[in-house]
Amino acid sequence: MSELKKIKDELLSKFKEKLDLSEINQIKTDLFGKSGKITLQFKKIGTIDESERKKFASDLNTIKDQLQKIINSKINEIENAEIEERLKKEKIDITLPERPFVRGKIHPVSQTIDEISSIFSEIGFSVEEGPDVENEFNNFTALNTPDNHPARDMHDTFYLDEKKEKLLRTHTSPVQIRTMLKDKPPFKIIAPGRTYRSDSDQTHSPMFHQVEGLHIDKDINMGHLKGCLNYFIKEFFEVKKIKMRFRPSHFPFTEPSAEVDIGYEIKDGKIIIGEGDQWLEILGCGMVHPNVLKNVNVNPSKFQGYAFGIGIDRLAMLKYGINDLRAFFDCDYRWLNHFGFDPLDVPTNYRGLSR
Ligand code: PHE
Repeated sequence: MSELKKIKDELLSKFKEKLDLSEINQIKTDLFGKSGKITLQFKKIGTIDESERKKFASDLNTIKDQLQKIINSKINEIENAEIEERLKKEKIDITLPERPFVRGKIHPVSQTIDEISSIFSEIGFSVEEGPDVENEFNNFTALNTPDNHPARDMHDTFYLDEKKEKLLRTHTSPVQIRTMLKDKPPFKIIAPGRTYRSDSDQTHSPMFHQVEGLHIDKDINMGHLKGCLNYFIKEFFEVKKIKMRFRPSHFPFTEPSAEVDIGYEIKDGKIIIGEGDQWLEILGCGMVHPNVLKNVNVNPSKFQGYAFGIGIDRLAMLKYGINDLRAFFDCDYRWLNHFGFDPLDVPTNYRGLSR
């Protein structure tokens, strides 16, 4: 018994000091581990004289229980103290002012692309995409624009290699080619995206946006083109009537070709679409040239249709009263905050379709 009492007294005196959890665990191992002091006492039971054995074993068990209790309550005490400490430290100071909360805005160009896509999707157009880096075949040759064609210079192309095989697409028309090469007619698609030309002033930026339209079927004619554009412009500008005129023009990939102007006037410094006697050019279009169809293995004696290319940035400027195109791409946060759209507060003619 005296040895057991010694062990207990030792423990009690150790616990008078301030101990941390790892020190207590060490004490636990020293007592109850494989060759711990208490474990060794248990191993000793067999060697004790029979007359004392029972009492020794019972005393040993009592001491073992006492020691475990003491140790466990010490561990609890330390853990509780730690929790208390943390609760004190981690107090939330509700008097602190809130941090400024910044919610991003949707760029007017993205917003306009969403609106255009949803308007065309209502009349059966699906959305296609093509890469910004194009090859010379898709951007020019397949579009009936041969090597020495002056339109190639007109486009002020950014070439990406010496051989002039890779370039930044100068219009979205190569998506017509990609779509027709990959599928079979009929086709009814729009293709919004970035386009590039070496040009920069108040109304031109070297990177700008277009949306291509292509509708090919067995009996599509210029009347369909007019109807489609008329519908689109009315929906986009949210007006009941629109003044629109087709001016004869030339594109190598359409025949006949036209440029489309819409009528507008300026009233009290505000631009009113669909009235007045001023004209504004917004797109190029025409009936797809038979050579283009041949280039993509579509039989021009069976299929025909129209294509158009609309300048998106210009439409956005008109609709949202923005007068310098370059501001679109300046990345000025204050500008975006003013002209951008709240993602949760979209304009009335937005139908929830996103790119
Ligand atoms: N790709 C022409 C341009 O960028 C626009 C266009 C597209 C014209 C489709 C006719 C048909 O100017």
